[in-house]
Amino acid sequence: MKNIVVLVSGGGTNLQALIDAQNRGEIKNGKISCVISSKPDAYALERAKNNNIETEIIRRKDYAEFDDYDTALTELLQSKNADVVVLAGFMTILGSKVIRAFENRIINIHPSLIPSFCGEGYYGLRVHEEALKKGVKVTGATAHFVNEICDGGPIIIQKAVEIQNGDTPEILQKRVMQEAEWKILPKAVSLFCEEKISVKDNKTEILD
Ligand code: GAR
Repeated sequence: MKNIVVLVSGGGTNLQALIDAQNRGEIKNGKISCVISSKPDAYALERAKNNNIETEIIRRKDYAEFDDYDTALTELLQSKNADVVVLAGFMTILGSKVIRAFENRIINIHPSLIPSFCGEGYYGLRVHEEALKKGVKVTGATAHFVNEICDGGPIIIQKAVEIQNGDTPEILQKRVMQEAEWKILPKAVSLFCEEKISVKDNKTEILD
């Protein structure tokens, strides 16, 4: 059984999707053992507590140097014996220490079809604002491993979502979550726990 540690910063609907999938028995060979938040008032922490999942808080601003924060987060994850780390709306950039310590073991959910609308500065609502500004007809979400290039790690699963007349960034964000994020993130985590993802040349292959 793999230990899943989830990092959050906000509302935690993706965390909820993971918890619901776990309760339905859809996370094969894995269990959410801890939820770590970058914000003490994140609603995601309530979701964890309601499901008797241990919680921790680590704030970037409590460390003068980024390096010290990077070390502290790495050590916290190691102390939790994390086999896989899931970024479920985690809004603090990860340092190279934690990325190297958990190479191809950190899974992020991004609300677009990478490589569109991704990279530095593209997070949350901004991603959907830019997609609508560009006038794309299809957007979606991507579950991928994290490497040192922002949103540049090996892609695990993507799911497309069509733009509709009258979409606002808020409406589109909600539909991308419902139709894509909440489905592909639990699936990607389960595939990892089942050891069905192989990585080669910055690409993944899903094994049957
Ligand atoms: C989600 O839409 C997630 O894809 C996005 O933040 C939201 C968090 O919502 N993440 C990023 O933009 C990362 N670059 P949640 O807290 O309700 O899961």
